[in-house]
Amino acid sequence: MERLVFTIVVCVLAFGGFFMVVVEGLGVNWGTMATHKLPPNTVVQMLKDNGIQKVKLFDADESTMSALAGSGIQVMLAIPNDQLDAMNSYDRAKKWVKKNVTTYNFQGGVDIKYVAVGNEPFLTSYNNSFLNNTLPALQNIQNALNEAGHGDTIKATVPLNADVYLSPADNPVPSAGRFRTDINDLMTQMVQFLNQNNAPFTVNIYPFLSLYGNDDFPVDYAFFDGASKPVVDGVISYTNVFDANFDTLVSALGAVGYGNMTIIVGEVGWPTDGDKNANIGSAYRFYNGLLPRLAANTGTPLRPGYIEVYLFGLLDEDAKSIAPGNFERHWGIFRYDGQPKYGIDLTGKGNNQLLIPAKDVQYLPQKWCEFNPNAKDLSKLADNINFACTFADCTALGYGSSCNSLDANGNASYAFNMYFQVQNQGDLSCNFEGLAKVTTQNISQGNCNFTIQIATSQSSVLGPSLIVAFPFLLLLLL
Ligand SMILES: *[C@@H]1O[C@H](CO)[C@@H](O)[C@H](O)[C@H]1NC(C)=O
Ligand SMILES: *[C@@H]1O[C@H](CO)[C@@H](O)[C@H](O)[C@H]1NC(C)=O
Ligand SMILES: *[C@@H]1O[C@H](CO)[C@@H](O)[C@H](O)[C@H]1NC(C)=O
Ligand SMILES: *[C@@H]1O[C@H](CO)[C@@H](O)[C@H](O)[C@H]1NC(C)=O
Ligand SMILES: *[C@@H]1O[C@H](CO)[C@@H](O)[C@H](O)[C@H]1NC(C)=O
Ligand SMILES: *[C@@H]1O[C@H](CO)[C@@H](O)[C@H](O)[C@H]1NC(C)=O
Ligand SMILES: *[C@@H]1O[C@H](CO)[C@@H](O)[C@H](O)[C@H]1NC(C)=O
Repeated sequence: MERLVFTIVVCVLAFGGFFMVVVEGLGVNWGTMATHKLPPNTVVQMLKDNGIQKVKLFDADESTMSALAGSGIQVMLAIPNDQLDAMNSYDRAKKWVKKNVTTYNFQGGVDIKYVAVGNEPFLTSYNNSFLNNTLPALQNIQNALNEAGHGDTIKATVPLNADVYLSPADNPVPSAGRFRTDINDLMTQMVQFLNQNNAPFTVNIYPFLSLYGNDDFPVDYAFFDGASKPVVDGVISYTNVFDANFDTLVSALGAVGYGNMTIIVGEVGWPTDGDKNANIGSAYRFYNGLLPRLAANTGTPLRPGYIEVYLFGLLDEDAKSIAPGNFERHWGIFRYDGQPKYGIDLTGKGNNQLLIPAKDVQYLPQKWCEFNPNAKDLSKLADNINFACTFADCTALGYGSSCNSLDANGNASYAFNMYFQVQNQGDLSCNFEGLAKVTTQNISQGNCNFTIQIATSQSSVLGPSLIVAFPFLLLLLL
């Protein structure tokens, strides 16, 4: 009997191992800025089904943490930028560690590896808002981790955007990389502190953003299949911007005396909608260049070997800010509902295979909201579309996006349906002053999906439903 059990266990392990060994060190970012979130247990099961063993979060939400408990998945927790000020108090930092780390740090609890202190706090678009409070927060959190006895296994780090370093315009090669002059002293102190604690430097690298909004950027250089005009840096020829960017950081670290510091790539990925370069074909090309390189431990010219990398991201998030661009809501390797979008081989063998989808996803009924072609008064149409798109995701309508070829009525239907779904198909949410009606016909057209939202007890219809209830009623009554 014992032998039988043993044999079964070995078979299961071997079977699982054969199919599930993803690239060593590969993680994903699990963001939750969605109007309708998949239940955390569903997401954790999906991670396990796909062999994903590392996850990076943007907070330390209790329901997420509970779902991760006992999963064996390694976790990077996070402290959002708006809590950095609070963490400048050591007392407050100790409370954070006690509640969000110590609570889960037991056999069968959550396998916490890192705490991300802030998220890209030195981004130039933040106007220096977090320049003074990030390093003290980092120090307090790591010191609190050390004091609580977690310091050997749990490291605090600050995920930074690649805009904290650059090469000079007159010598734009990776070996000339330096930290931005306005934050060079700050970066030096931060790197010293990380080094003292044996903690890694975390950087987010986005080849897509190099291409976005820069029509002169050579498209091939954003991918990994060779560039016709490599960047020559001494004896090294760079054929992709990921390597060049990473090595610019290696040089910047070297310039302040820490050329050997461990670097984690906190975010890297490619979006599938919301821009002319954001589509399924390009995302496929990007990942199927990146993953085999990670699997082979190719590294970069200045850092050959293993790199710990977190893909961005796991799921589409329809409530993310689109200040950076319409693509922001389309970074998922899965759709909003946990369905895979394209072939991606996490083992790095380059097979064109689909990920395993989320299981037992519950959807709202098969009902869509569409423009009512019999509507007489169209004078309020633009206002109503604008209203719908203020509180629902219309980013697929934009130039170069999946629904950009709809006609005017199609545009209206798309906007109305997205709003109707965000509002859980509520009775009043498909009226729009008589301009809309509910249909049970799937009104998807070509590449443009008119989606049905997922049903979830947790579906917080974020702020909008409350904030707009009043004006919306007015709109209906007028
Ligand atoms: C723990 O993390 C949660 C989620 O990020 C946060 O809201 C909460 O304030 C933290 N708890 C403490 C005691 O700091
Ligand atoms: C930064 O400053 C610019 C211009 O002064 C302003 O438009 C923007 O809203 C500011 N951003 C933040 C995050 O404060
Ligand atoms: C940061 O500190 C500097 C120098 O003390 C000060 O001038 C600046 O206003 C502070 N910035 C913020 C956002 O608090
Ligand atoms: C970095 O590590 C290599 C190999 O371990 C070693 O030879 C080199 O001296 C180190 N460089 C620095 C700056 O510490
Ligand atoms: C549909 O909406 C998009 C985005 O607002 C716009 O670019 C496009 O011109 C519209 N199409 C028509 C036919 O009105
Ligand atoms: C609606 O039709 C589209 C395109 O044929 C299809 O991809 C989608 O799955 C359908 N949606 C539903 C909810 O059946
Ligand atoms: C639309 O949904 C179908 C699956 O229902 C999927 O195959 C297709 O890729 C989706 N299209 C877009 C642009 O998301």
